[in-house]
Amino acid sequence: MKLFNAAIVSVAGSVAVLAVTALAFAASGPTSSGSDPAGRVKVDTAVDRFGKLHVPANYRTTYQFLGTWAVARDQGPGSAEMHVLYASPGTIDAYRKDGHFPDGAVLVKEVYRAATEAMTTGTVSHVDSLRGWFVMVRDRNGHHPASDVWGDGWGWSWFDAANPSVASRSLPMKDGVVRPTFDYKLNCKGCHAPAKATEWIYTEGYPPLKP
Ligand code: HEC
Repeated sequence: MKLFNAAIVSVAGSVAVLAVTALAFAASGPTSSGSDPAGRVKVDTAVDRFGKLHVPANYRTTYQFLGTWAVARDQGPGSAEMHVLYASPGTIDAYRKDGHFPDGAVLVKEVYRAATEAMTTGTVSHVDSLRGWFVMVRDRNGHHPASDVWGDGWGWSWFDAANPSVASRSLPMKDGVVRPTFDYKLNCKGCHAPAKATEWIYTEGYPPLKP
């Protein structure tokens, strides 16, 4: 009987531990997908088994930093927006080896409104509130031919800051027009045409990819 009790206590104990762990994952972010048994934070691939993209959980700590863009204001000094780029682990090494983005590589572009102020270095812009994310996932073999977010070697999506799990149709364009579609050919491709020769990516902005 004693043994039996001990077994129950130990099972109850592990359930409690599991519950606490699950809570810890939930608290670490809206799309957090937890950690492996060794406690390492899991690297998220940004795509589910149906080919739907999401903003990868924990990318700020598990991905590698690629570079930053500053979009100038139309009037006055400083930047209107700042864009901050991350790549999934392994992307930089692979690109430096053969000049290609490897299959499965994920690029995350954070889009921030910028704030500009006088600092001791001069007039300085820095990131302010987050507008959302662009996410691209490399697919060299065209695994999703029927999907309108996959094609030309990538999966392409935009996410509003409020919802990193579900792609948004309301991609904010500079002229204020919102494109009411998910189709990357309408939403993304035209604007990325100048970078076609570098696999549709503006590689000049990313020091870690340079020789
Ligand atoms: C108005 C033109 C425009 C549209 C629309 C656009 N992009 Fe871009 N994108 C750019 C430019 C220019 C850059 C690099 C400079 C910058 O960030 O300002 C860029 C950079 C990126 C990057 C960083 C990697 C790179 O190519 O340098 C990602 C990821 C990205 N875009 C994804 C997308 C996706 C996905 C869509 C569609 C949902 C999209 N973009 C729509 C112009 C555009």
